[in-house]
Parts: sequence; structure tokens; C-alpha cells
Amino acid sequence: HAATVTVDPAFVVGPVRRRTFGTFVEHLGRCVYTGIYEPEHATADADGFRGDVMELTRELGVSTVRYPGGNFVSGYRWEDAVGPVADRPRRLDLAWHSTEPNTFGVDEFMRWAQRSGVEPMMAVNLGTRGIQEALDLLEYCNVPGGSYLADQRRANGAEDPYRIRMWCLGNEMDGPWQIGHKTAEEYARVAAETARAMRMMDPDIELVACGSSSSSMPTFGEWERTVLTETYEHVDYVSAHAYYHEEDGDLTSFLASSVDMDNFVAAVAATADQVRAARKLDKKIHVSFDEWNVWYQQRAESRPPQGDDWPVAPVLLEDRYNVADAVVVGNLLISLLRNTDRVHAASLAQLVNVIAPIMTEPGGRSWKQTIFHPFALTSARAKGDVLRLAVDSPVQETAKFGEVPVLDTVATHDPESGDVVVFAVNRSVTDAVALDVDLRGFPGLRVAEAVTLANPDHTWSATAEDSTSVAPRPNTSAKVADDRARAELPPVSWSMLRL
Ligand code: AHR
Repeated sequence: HAATVTVDPAFVVGPVRRRTFGTFVEHLGRCVYTGIYEPEHATADADGFRGDVMELTRELGVSTVRYPGGNFVSGYRWEDAVGPVADRPRRLDLAWHSTEPNTFGVDEFMRWAQRSGVEPMMAVNLGTRGIQEALDLLEYCNVPGGSYLADQRRANGAEDPYRIRMWCLGNEMDGPWQIGHKTAEEYARVAAETARAMRMMDPDIELVACGSSSSSMPTFGEWERTVLTETYEHVDYVSAHAYYHEEDGDLTSFLASSVDMDNFVAAVAATADQVRAARKLDKKIHVSFDEWNVWYQQRAESRPPQGDDWPVAPVLLEDRYNVADAVVVGNLLISLLRNTDRVHAASLAQLVNVIAPIMTEPGGRSWKQTIFHPFALTSARAKGDVLRLAVDSPVQETAKFGEVPVLDTVATHDPESGDVVVFAVNRSVTDAVALDVDLRGFPGLRVAEAVTLANPDHTWSATAEDSTSVAPRPNTSAKVADDRARAELPPVSWSMLRL
């Protein structure tokens, strides 16, 4: 296969947004307990935060972290988990059939976020609760002092307000599995009124209304129309969630998952713009793609405990990712960047242990899954502007998406350093792609860095013992001559060329 790509500095989609590189910490399985928080761990600091996980979080290049859920938030009482730890009640978490010890709460999360250098993104419970409890949490977090809950935060050790900017108005309220699941009309009303009241308290916050839990929801499209018609003036974003996995051995369709993500964003944007036109409003609603990843939902480790078993921090959703999964994650990041004009925030779900790039052993090692690498490299290298490319790629047939290009790619250009970075995925299962990048718009560039993640066995997964033998390697075929960059991209691979 041969594919040609033309890059030109004049064709800018929009800026690379740091918020594209968000992740997610939910009270689910071992994400919090024995994930980011394990007071007994050898690397734990005075607050019980695992130092090894904090280091990996930094290396991953995480910008924002969404918290505390997820399905968990729809039954959560945030006030259970503030104040003296000995007084905090244990509660049943119905979403994941677990016991929540509440030894980690909003104050611990904010200290962890500050120490890890990430921006918090807070979700309020619109499942079992409503406007008042959302206002209470906002008062506790963002009001400087002089009111009951703000003073309670100060008494609990946080003198300065947290000034959390991004707030999610509930989680996946379109899903019948959600505690307090609502029809679009029911959710639209409570979301609009919660948003209006929250802004009365803090006009600087940015609000995310729940969109669809996936593009295959029966209510997809109509849900967004109804919710945005009611909430348009009061919110800034509508959320999108998407999880992909290889089904019935159909690797070719799986490798084309970003086609669904592109279509998802286009459909939500069109719906938001239709409401904008119908309501005769000016502002644009952007997409917060605040849950996305590969997730093998049907595997046993995704099934919560049952019956009388309500464990604390059970092993749940601890998917092991292979090389093909990492290629798809890299490709989904290509899609998020390509849609940077509309997607203004995104969160890989999740950060640690639960469908995660970082894994930990309780009391032991931490290690990187395959999906860690494309995320870390894209976060580190994508800077400046996202460029609109002219791509001439061979196509291949997929059962799920019809004909798709074999090569998927995006490029960024940093006007400050002059760097042009090309991110590229070869979706062919059998053939290499000879990539040929026309750089006449950027005369005189050379190869500064070229790496490829691939393996003859694309089912290879990392373990605690061996997490690096299949990591991105230098791609020695990459060359620039006569203002054209050329590189060989092996089958089922993700690559990054910095020029
Ligand atoms: O990320 C795992 C779960 O997926 C979240 O709790 C929920 O929002 C989604 O269905």
C-alpha cells in the first residue's frame, strides 16, 4: 500500500487543546483504593497518595481528571466523605455492588489533583439527588468563606476555595442502568434548573450536560436535541461517551473505530447547531468527550459482585490491553485532535486499574499498559495548531463501517518551535503502508523523532513483569528528502513523526 499526505500551515482546524488529554478517576474497583490512594504503600505520601502512580500520571501527560464518577456519582453523597475520617460512614455503592469506605473524598481528591498537576472536573449527582445537593457541593468547593459549607471546607483544612471550573450535570442519565435514570424531558428540566442555580452561585463555572452514553443508544440524537433545547443558554458542553472493542474476531472493523467517533462528533455538533438555529442563539455548544477507550464489557472482570457480597475496592474492569488496542487508542486520539474545532475537552476512561493505562499491584509494583504509550506521546508532542490534511489513502472494506481509509492520520504544527508532528495509524492487518508526506508548505524540515508501536503478534499484552518489551521503537525507515517525508508503517501500527 502507498498513501500520500499533504500538510500545509494555512489549513488550520483549531488549536491543540490541553483538555483533550484528560482522564477519569471513579470510585470503582481499584481506581481510587489501591490505585491512586493506598496509605500503606511504600511510595505513599503523608496523605496516602501513591507516589509511583503520581509519577506515571505525570508521565502520561494528563491534563484534566473527571471525578468521582461515572455510574457511582448517581448514588453518591459527597458529604459522607469530608471531615474526620473516623466519623465517615460506610455506604453501599449500588452502581458497582461494592462498599464505599469514604476514606477518600473531595478534599483528598483535590489535594491529589493539586499535587499531580491536573485540573479537576467534578460531577454532581442528578440520579438520587438534585439542585440543592449540587449547590451544596459547589458552595463547599468554590465559595471562599463566610457561608456554612465554605467554612466547613476551611475547617477541614482547605483555607482557599478550590475554584473548580468544569462541572458535569450528572452522568449518563440516558442509560437505563443509571441510578435515577431519566427520560430526556425529565433530565433536561433538572439539568437546566441545576445549571441556572449553580451559575447564580458561581458564574465562572463551565457546565457539561449529559449527552448520549454511546452512538448506539436508541435515544441518540433525539436525546441531545431535547436536552439542548431546554439547557442551551445554561451549559457550555454536551458530553459524549464511547467504548470500543474487537467483536467476534473482526479486527478490521475494530481498527476502524475512530470512524464511529468522527460520526458521533459530527452528529452531536449538527444537532447542537440545529437547536442553535431554531432557538436563534449565537453561542456554540462544544463536545466534552468525557469517557472514551477500549473496553471489553462482556468479559467476566466487568461484572460487579452479587448477592450479599459488597466488597471494598474489588477487582473490576481490569482489562488487559494488547497492541491492537493501543493502535485503536492512538487512532481515537487522532480523531479527537482532528475534531478540535468541536471537541473542547475529553477524558480517557479511566486512569488507574479500571480500563486504564496505569496498573498497580496492592502493596506492590505499578506498570504501563500498551495504551499508555500513544496517549503519553500524543499528549507530549501535539502542540500548536491541528492541521487539516489532504490524504490519499487506499481503502479497505469493513463489516461495521463499509469502506474506510487504510491510513488514518492527523498533524499538528507548532508555530513557536516550527515542529510539524504527524500521527498515523495503519489499519491494515496484512500490509505495510508506504507513507509519503508532502512538506512543501514547510521547506527544509528534517526527521527529529520517528517512533512506531507495532508487534508481529498484535495480541501481545504488557504485564507487571514485562511492560516495555513492546513499546514504541524508533522507526528507522523515516527519512526526509526534497521536502517529502517517507516512512514505512507496519500493519496494525501507530506512529509519530516529529519533523
Ligand atoms: O467508565 C466505566 C463506566 O462506563 C462509567 O461508570 C459509566 O459512566 C460508563 O457507563
